[in-house]
Amino acid sequence: MDQASSLRKIVKRQAPGSIKKNAPAQKHKGDDMTSPRVISVTSGKGGVGKTNIVASLAMAFSKLGKQVLILDADLGLANMDIIFGMRPEFNISHVISGEKELSEIIVDVRPGIKIIPAGSGLEDLTTLTEGQKLHLLSEFEALDGTVDFVLIDTGAGISSNVIYFNLAADECIIIATHEPTSITDAYAMMKVMSNNHGAKRYKLLVNMVKDANEAKTVYLTLSQAVDRFLNGAVLEYLGFIPHDEKLKTSVLNRKPVMELYPDAPSSRQIADKAKLILNTPLAKGSEGNVKFFMKRFMAYSQALNG
Ligand SMILES: Nc1ncnc2c1ncn2[C@@H]1O[C@H](COP(=O)(O)OP(=O)(O)OP(=O)(O)O)[C@@H](O)[C@H]1O
Ligand SMILES: [Mg+2]
Repeated sequence: MDQASSLRKIVKRQAPGSIKKNAPAQKHKGDDMTSPRVISVTSGKGGVGKTNIVASLAMAFSKLGKQVLILDADLGLANMDIIFGMRPEFNISHVISGEKELSEIIVDVRPGIKIIPAGSGLEDLTTLTEGQKLHLLSEFEALDGTVDFVLIDTGAGISSNVIYFNLAADECIIIATHEPTSITDAYAMMKVMSNNHGAKRYKLLVNMVKDANEAKTVYLTLSQAVDRFLNGAVLEYLGFIPHDEKLKTSVLNRKPVMELYPDAPSSRQIADKAKLILNTPLAKGSEGNVKFFMKRFMAYSQALNG
């Protein structure tokens, strides 16, 4: 058994009967809403568009009637707040320290979109006492039934924290551009996750390309390397987002491109990807609620760090 699946088993054993096995990937409002789809958006190289893509993807899901929670997990250079033009006073570190309740730090940025702002403290959960961990988990429990999607904007690179978020998520979207360094760094990320942690499924979204052909070349390069060298790993092609000056202008205006220019080429592609994700059930179903996502995250950081 690989390390990731044995850890998942440990997490499940810690909470017998609490996780729904083979839960349907998609929930409609009114159905059991306790299993949001947790998607991490990650990259090997920095500056490839993760934060902008998460922000506009969240807007696209909300337009489709879904409730979205963004976890700004870029603990070093959090800038989701900038894209939404907000300046959060508190962040997750205040919840970890016990100064604030989770509900007090969550920001409603747009109808149907909430953000948990990043903060220090998630880097090394091994330093938390059992009491602090239980408190943190019970705070996350309160989110049950309130969200359909959790989108995680991770930091770049293969630091352990980024890896744990990716492992704990139900699915992992890797963002790469056509730059060679972005491609090699995306491969390095999948190599570590596949070889060291047994994570085998990834989706690729190629950003800042001139057209579909350029994106396909990036996908072919990466998928050939994955097929050849990463035993059993599968890289799916989610699609591409074109290089778009409108996206840059929207960053300057501190708004997601989906909001400022819903008809821009990048917005159209992101809207399309949101629909595609919604219409593609998860391969193995969502493994529990937001609390259990956090629990998995903690278990990975404990087992691999501590
Ligand atoms: N499709 C696009 N077209 C044009 N420019 C883009 C596009 N996507 C991203 N950019 C540019 O790249 C910059 C970086 O994007 P963003 O901050 O979303 O990347 P990131 O991957 O989150 O970076 P980091 O790794 O630092 O968190 C944006 O400010 C924007 O100027
Ligand atoms: Mg970012």
